[in-house]
Order: sequence, then structure tokens, then C-alpha cells
Amino acid sequence: MRRKLVAGNWKMNGSRESIKALLDGIKSGLDSVGNAGVAVCPPAVYISDVMAQLEGTAVAVGAQNCATEASGAYTGEIAVAMIKDCGCQYIIVGHSERRTLYGEDDAVVAKKFAAVRTAGLTPILCVGETLAEREAGVTEAVIARQLDAVIELEGIAAIGDSVIAYEPVWAIGTGMTATPEQAQDVHAFIRGKLAGLDAAVAENVVIQYGGSVKGSNAAELFAKPDIDGGLIGGAALDPEDFLAICRAAG
Ligand code: PGA
Repeated sequence: MRRKLVAGNWKMNGSRESIKALLDGIKSGLDSVGNAGVAVCPPAVYISDVMAQLEGTAVAVGAQNCATEASGAYTGEIAVAMIKDCGCQYIIVGHSERRTLYGEDDAVVAKKFAAVRTAGLTPILCVGETLAEREAGVTEAVIARQLDAVIELEGIAAIGDSVIAYEPVWAIGTGMTATPEQAQDVHAFIRGKLAGLDAAVAENVVIQYGGSVKGSNAAELFAKPDIDGGLIGGAALDPEDFLAICRAAG
């Protein structure tokens, strides 16, 4: 039985003050969230603060990005080992904002995925099609290509220890959530593709949905058989909305 996971991707938002208020709000409602896994992914400079504030809770912490390289002369980059040293469990790789705004191609994403696994952390691998790709009927081909880049480098077993987040690019931050049926179709495609390589990996891997998930639409998305929780952007910045999503998963 897969355990649902709700992860908040705070992106480049927050201050010490607002993060404290957000975490106080989340912590005050954690008793009500049931048995879903919960994680937050703050901007890297706040990871240690967040870790300290979440001590003693079951909320895991993740980073939003990492370097491909282990250490050295890479000004501005943050190594996986540093993220691990700060206590993180997850690292998001291949978010569409990284792919489109920072030119991360499938090969870079696969390298980051490998770096995360080598350190013993869990990658949250984001895949998803743009609106133009959906309209051109190549959604499945795009997602297969994004998954294959990682599987070719790391092998299918590596997917079993990871989290996949299906995030249609057209649904991110736009308020245009995929319908539960649209999301389920792609989740089933992903699981089916993985099952062709390894049935146990396909059965066990957590596949989150991301893209304008809110407290008001989470329950119907998470009710679908292949949707195992969510990667949450905007709504993760509001404690009540985030807790409502966690409850929908729990
Ligand atoms: P959103 O972002 O929930 O604001 O659409 C999701 C994401 O980018 O992970």
C-alpha cells in the first residue's frame, strides 16, 4: 500500500518572519492530517531554520534544487551533501521552472537525480508537458522521454526509491488544474510504462500530482487510484490551505 505524500514547494517565497508564521500554522494543525506524509521545501537559505522549527514533528524537509557536481569551484551552487548535512530528506529535481527558465535539459535532470540518490536522499522527479505539447498530442511521448533519461542513467530500480511528480506545465501557478480524469490518465500511463520494466517498482512508486492543487480540489484528485498525493506550490504558502490538502491525502 503506497503512502500518500504532500510536499509544499515554497519556490522563491518567504522571509524569516513569514516562514515562522507559516510553520506555526502548519504545526498547530498537524494532529488532524491523518497518515499522509508531509514535507516542505523552503528556499535553501532557510532550510536550517525550518529544520529547527520542525524538530519533533513528522514533517520532512526538502530542497528545491541541487548541483550536479559533488563539490568544488561552482559559485552559487549547492551540493547534495550540503543539503543532506542540513537534515533534508527530499530534493526536487527537474521542476518545469528549472527546465524552462534555467535551461535544465533531460541530461542535467538525470545527473541531479543520480546525485541525490548517491547521497541517499529521495529525489522528487518532476515531469510534465506544456500546453503546446498537450495540444499536439505528444503528452505521453514527452513524459516517456523525461522518464527514460533518468531510467537510462540510473536504472529502473532507482525509480522505486524515488517520488515522481506529474506536473502539467499549463496547470502550474495558473489556476488551471488538470481534471482528476486528465491527471489520472497520465498517472496511469506513467505507472503502466514503469510496470513494463518492473512491476514492483511501478506498484510502489509514489506519483504525486502538481499544478494548482488547493484545499478545494485536492480530495477528488487524491481519490484517483494512481494519484498518491501532491506537490503544492501557491497553496503551500497558506497554512490552512496546505493543511486542508494534507487532510485530503490523509
Ligand atoms: P502551483 O505549483 O501549486 O502553484 O500550481 C505547483 C508546483 O510548481 O510544484
